[in-house]
Amino acid sequence: MRIGIPKEPFEGQTLVAASPDTVAKLIKLGYGVVVERGAGARADYFDDQYLAAGAGIVEKEEAWGCDIVTCLDTPPAEELSLIKEGAVLLARMNPGANPELVGRLAAMNVTALALDMVPRISRAQALDVRSSMMNVAGNRAVIEAANRFGRLFAGQVTAAGKVPPAKVYVIGVGVAGLAAIGAAGSMGAEVSATDVRPEVADQVESLGGTFVEIPVKQESSDGYAKELADEQQKAVLKVYEEQAAKSDIVITTAQVPGRPAPLLLTAQAVAGMRPGSVIVDMGASELGSNCELTRPGEAYTTENGVTIIGYGDLPSRLPGQSSQLFGQNVVNLFKLVTSKKDGEPVWDVQDEVVRGMMVTVEGNVMWPPPPVKVSAAPLVQAPPAEEPREAVEAPARKRWWWKIALGVLGVALVVTAPSEMAGHFIVFELAVVVGFYVITSVTHTLHTPLMSVTNAISGIIVVGAILLIGSSNPLVAALSFIAMVIASINVFGGFLITNRMLKMFERSSE
Ligand code: NAI
Repeated sequence: MRIGIPKEPFEGQTLVAASPDTVAKLIKLGYGVVVERGAGARADYFDDQYLAAGAGIVEKEEAWGCDIVTCLDTPPAEELSLIKEGAVLLARMNPGANPELVGRLAAMNVTALALDMVPRISRAQALDVRSSMMNVAGNRAVIEAANRFGRLFAGQVTAAGKVPPAKVYVIGVGVAGLAAIGAAGSMGAEVSATDVRPEVADQVESLGGTFVEIPVKQESSDGYAKELADEQQKAVLKVYEEQAAKSDIVITTAQVPGRPAPLLLTAQAVAGMRPGSVIVDMGASELGSNCELTRPGEAYTTENGVTIIGYGDLPSRLPGQSSQLFGQNVVNLFKLVTSKKDGEPVWDVQDEVVRGMMVTVEGNVMWPPPPVKVSAAPLVQAPPAEEPREAVEAPARKRWWWKIALGVLGVALVVTAPSEMAGHFIVFELAVVVGFYVITSVTHTLHTPLMSVTNAISGIIVVGAILLIGSSNPLVAALSFIAMVIASINVFGGFLITNRMLKMFERSSE
């Protein structure tokens, strides 16, 4: 089948639904690809690059008239009418808020999949365009803030004096919030963050930030927050106000699905901020904003010197990156539905990822899909049923006897060994005991450095075995051989695994 990549019809849209790189990947899956002339120019992807990737360059009508059309958002009426009957349309559609559009797509007898409705489950992450765009937006929010902020982010000690790091406070730790924390931290800022979902605290800390507790804690089964009651709202606003007063930059990303952006920073909170501070309100839209004083789409400075940025087009301000990620999400969708790599997609209704995105199929309305149960919160473990006393104590007793048995064996070995060997056995047994307790107490994340130590020990074993393998005693020679084989497996196996892991980080040339 042929996929058409049209030029985005909306004024100000700088993105394109495929980059030359993702076009080549679609062609590898067996599809033909045509790109409208000049479609990628605003993202710095030019026609000759698409041609080199294997695409055809066509005029508007031909791009919209393909078997499959992929674009950023549902097109306006003029372009919609160019889509042929029975075609497939892939775009962000917000079908829940657009019942008329759903009816129109059904009447056109098209199969429409909403790229913005990918269920939030792990398996679907690779095709989630919302996450990709939020990620870019979170990064860009930090760049916008840094651009308006009159100081460096990183703390420094210079000949001219000490420069403190910028203090960045992020409210709302979803995809955009995490991206903002990572970006601000990597620029050297001191980052703190807050969310009503306490389960994100670990993620904040793993990015080097500090989680600021708030008096509201919501359990979330789907990774989204719920609207706060009036009392709760009052309590959190107080914390946000205190934190904002201590911060140089506040980035707000809070959202509650289906509701206008929740208010996080009141006019009073802005008034309490230091001159030169910056607020990036990512939730800003005509429907509502996270900051009371935001002007959606604008950046301006208040009378007390606080700059408030309310841009709603942050991904479009990094068009090359956003288009590449959007295009890769589309490639991942096609990988899912083209297992035979024959350019013939199979839209499997039984697949919850595909089903979740289906708006219409050959003219039949499929929206809304059945709910998909997802959980971003750690599973709450049921308390273990009370076990009979003997059953609980038995394993502990078993472990105890096992250790005693090994201890007796160790002592017997030392006592019965020839006197010149006894000292070696004592060192060996002590090393086993210490090694056992060290290895079992080390956290998983430190197992890789630990492996280097065991590799060094294996190296010593190999050297020892080489020295002894020529012994006239067949038992010593046999033991040396076995030791050499086992230690070599450890050393060379370690190299192979490390090599495989390093390959995972190599840039693919595809
Ligand atoms: P998300 O749903 O993954 O994260 C939002 C987070 O806010 C959640 O973790 C939620 O628990 C938290 N939250 C909700 N109410 C809160 C409250 N009262 N206090 C503290 N935390 C609260 O959303 P995502 O994907 O990170 O997007 C964030 C926002 O960025 C959205 O509003 C989205 O529309 C916006 N956005 C803005 C763009 C722009 O150009 N300005 C571009 C892309 C997204």
